Amino acid sequence: MSGHGSNGMQVFAGRHSKPLARLVCERLNLPLGDAKTSVFPDGEILVKLDEDVRGRDCFVLLSTCQPVNENLVELFIFMDTLKRASADRITAVIPYFGYGRQDRKDTGRVPITAKLAANLITKAGADRVLAVDLHAAQIQGFFDIPVDHLTAAPVFLDHFRSRREEIGDLCIVSPDVGNVKVAEKMANLLDADLAIINKRRVSGSEVVSSHIIGSVSGRTVIMFDDIISTGGTVCQAAKLLVEDGGASRVIVAATHAPMVGPAIERLKASPISSIVITNTIPLDGRADPIKDRLEVLSVSNLLGDAIHNIHHDLSISALFRDAVGPKR
Ligand code: R5P
Repeated sequence: MSGHGSNGMQVFAGRHSKPLARLVCERLNLPLGDAKTSVFPDGEILVKLDEDVRGRDCFVLLSTCQPVNENLVELFIFMDTLKRASADRITAVIPYFGYGRQDRKDTGRVPITAKLAANLITKAGADRVLAVDLHAAQIQGFFDIPVDHLTAAPVFLDHFRSRREEIGDLCIVSPDVGNVKVAEKMANLLDADLAIINKRRVSGSEVVSSHIIGSVSGRTVIMFDDIISTGGTVCQAAKLLVEDGGASRVIVAATHAPMVGPAIERLKASPISSIVITNTIPLDGRADPIKDRLEVLSVSNLLGDAIHNIHHDLSISALFRDAVGPKR
């Protein structure tokens, strides 16, 4: 047989990532691997596999979203369990990679936790990693094992292409300089202009968006970002685009939506008319107050196809041939 692992593949999931993992398994036409995570009264985590994995090509799907530390430890323990049960190969499928934004020392005496998380994931037993829209492409290099880096861009592209005519005069906006490359590719593919916002981060939850480079007056704007965390970035930018720039409509598109702290209140009060996110992080009802403005796209087919290709030693970049690829 072609592919890795003489007995085929198995996909397991962490507690908080089961809804996405089930969709991925549907795409793969596989049952979700039989395993249970339980928590001891003192908070320690136990993972128990209820099926044989000896010699198999195993995938563990787990987003290290909130509660970040708990999910990260569950991922370590899952991989340790698989390793000790003689899995042939273990791929950590991390649709959302928490700690990804602490990827450099931007001041003295601070850690680089993205690198620390990469070291620990590898040490715990991962042979490879499959991730979606890492905060920065160079995080791939923090791992000394192969990393397949996917992007949700084709999913967004399909969504907006099917509405392109209705949208009319369109400008794609990058809410900060970090996301310009992605916004520029999207602008080309959606036949739109590009504008960039100058953003300064004041603290973990406060940003100041001060200037718009480009013209958005009277236009529909789609703002692409990798993540909506506290909502500061997109809400400040939306206010600037409408109040100073004269944009007629602001749509926000972001792959990951932890939407923590003040995010929901901020989004509710913002002039953003539509928020398009993906299911890399489970919402668990916390976005209900903004559900009339929310659309959740699925990355399950993308992940399913990538897992299929990894198992059969097929190309991953072939999945992005006709669309925008991941950040480089
Ligand atoms: C920043 O570099 C990121 O791309 C996001 O813009 C940012 O992390 C979003 O965080 P928040 O929603 O808290 O402003």
